[in-house]
Amino acid sequence: MGDYTNMSAYYDLIMTSGYYDYQKIVENITRDNSFGSVLEIGCGTGLILEELGQRQPHAEIMGVDLTEAMLSIASDRLQQFPNISLSLENVTDFDLKKSYDLAFSYGGVWYFVVDGDNEPFLVSHLYQAEDNHQGLARVGSHVNTGGRLLLGIQGPHHDYEKSVSNGMLYSQKIEPAEHGFVKHYYLAEDTLVVMSQTINYRTYTWSEAVALLSAHGFEHDAQAEKSSHFIAFRKV
Ligand SMILES: C[S@@+](CC[C@H](N)C(=O)[O-])C[C@H]1O[C@@H](n2cnc3c(N)ncnc32)[C@H](O)[C@@H]1O
Repeated sequence: MGDYTNMSAYYDLIMTSGYYDYQKIVENITRDNSFGSVLEIGCGTGLILEELGQRQPHAEIMGVDLTEAMLSIASDRLQQFPNISLSLENVTDFDLKKSYDLAFSYGGVWYFVVDGDNEPFLVSHLYQAEDNHQGLARVGSHVNTGGRLLLGIQGPHHDYEKSVSNGMLYSQKIEPAEHGFVKHYYLAEDTLVVMSQTINYRTYTWSEAVALLSAHGFEHDAQAEKSSHFIAFRKV
């Protein structure tokens, strides 16, 4: 589980202070893929969906997320997009009764970390192995055969702090754990901590990730154009 309730009120502030580049993310989704329907897994406050909705007014766009407070911000943000729907779902047991041409997750439930020339490794907001199997099985049943699953790429995690646009101080701290790592997020105003959140992440080596995804019908798409923001898998 990756509950973002504590961070939700500050999420946009932190992310739009340079944490993610939403324009580039959406450029990478739309440049290399053609789709009539698309699903974001872990859409958060809808920052990607807003950009996607502006560029793809005719696509059927769906976002799912586990955290009600995040989805409520997304719902306000996306009101003017009739082609975007949202649903409060845990990826481990969702069933939208529909499948999509494209599914993606950027910083959402799963993402890859690329660190120089080392093999990418998979990071999951689901710490339990069984939950990862269940979640990817559910994703598999929501992607059309021949469709794609894009999992976002991030740089290596490390401890740091930096000021965000309203002058508060964002910081993160990483600790190793048996099957991955624990990440602590903080936001402080002077000496007062206004937000803290901790998430346990599970990690998979590249070969473990390929095997895990393959078990649920997703093959690495080596033909996909090289993208700086996503690794592509094809639903077989
Ligand atoms: C770092 S945010 C990314 C949000 C958005 N993709 C963005 O780029 O701004 C991760 C999101 O994944 C959601 N999430 C984590 N575990 C989840 C699960 N098991 N099912 C659905 N959503 C989940 C969290 O609630 C959170 O909103």
